[in-house]
Amino acid sequence: MAEAAGNSAYPILELQGIYKDFDGLEVLFGINLGIQKEERHAVIGPNGAGKSTIFNIITGKYLPSKGKIFFKGQEVTGTSPYRLNRQGLARSFQITNIFRTMTVFQNVRNAILSKNKIRYNLFSRLDRMKDISEQTEKVLEQIGLLDRKDVVAGLLSYGQQRALEIGLTIATEPELILLDEPTAGMSSEETREAVKLIGRVTQGKTLVIVEHDMEVVFSLADRITVIYYGEVLASGPPDEIRQNQKVKDAYLGEEKEE
Ligand SMILES: Nc1ncnc2c1ncn2[C@@H]1O[C@H](COP(=O)(O)OP(=O)(O)OP(=O)(O)O)[C@@H](O)[C@H]1O
Ligand SMILES: [Mg+2]
Repeated sequence: MAEAAGNSAYPILELQGIYKDFDGLEVLFGINLGIQKEERHAVIGPNGAGKSTIFNIITGKYLPSKGKIFFKGQEVTGTSPYRLNRQGLARSFQITNIFRTMTVFQNVRNAILSKNKIRYNLFSRLDRMKDISEQTEKVLEQIGLLDRKDVVAGLLSYGQQRALEIGLTIATEPELILLDEPTAGMSSEETREAVKLIGRVTQGKTLVIVEHDMEVVFSLADRITVIYYGEVLASGPPDEIRQNQKVKDAYLGEEKEE
């Protein structure tokens, strides 16, 4: 894609000609997508367009039936979600992924511990726990849940649970963050808060976000890719997408009618 544009335009993630079928049902038809380092990239498109499938292929959950994926310049097609996560790719799920019976603090600490298991060895366990607690509190502060840290996660409001989920995603300091509809099911008030939160915690990081709410998309994204029936309909900066006639006809127009 933007390979010829020099060193700075080096894509952290690249999809080349990705196809996917589920037992003969074809859902992706040659997706090409380049995500630059430190950009916030929104993936939009109607229900069933293939957005979550693209996410599942990026994160290694599904294998594409054709095509290649590159992460940080290395081909990672077929790499397991676990290993991709270790390499710095983190996702949150469309469905809530927190441990409801653990406290807010324990949820975040757990995420940090699971990441640090391989980094730390047996030395200085006390220091390590203090360090982990400090990191945990830092994340809680970022997501605005420090004052709720001892609350059992299942008792948080829906919006707070989604904030916690974003906290779990950023807790491991990933190089690439994937959020699949982080504002799904939120009230407009909660959505506004969530957008502020996402903007804050992804400052200077690379984000790919699937989102239906156009206000969220246009306020967050540096670039937008529109997926329509398993193909890239358009990809570019928000203004370009807003003006794009194909996008208006196929997608944004539909939204208005609803
Ligand atoms: N595991 C699966 N097995 C079979 N079909 C699947 C599977 N996952 C997705 N599909 C199908 O692939 C197509 C794309 O689905 P996908 O979930 O990627 O859409 P989406 O763009 O994320 O939609 P939404 O906006 O509703 O979340 C749909 O027709 C869906 O039914
Ligand atoms: Mg989806």
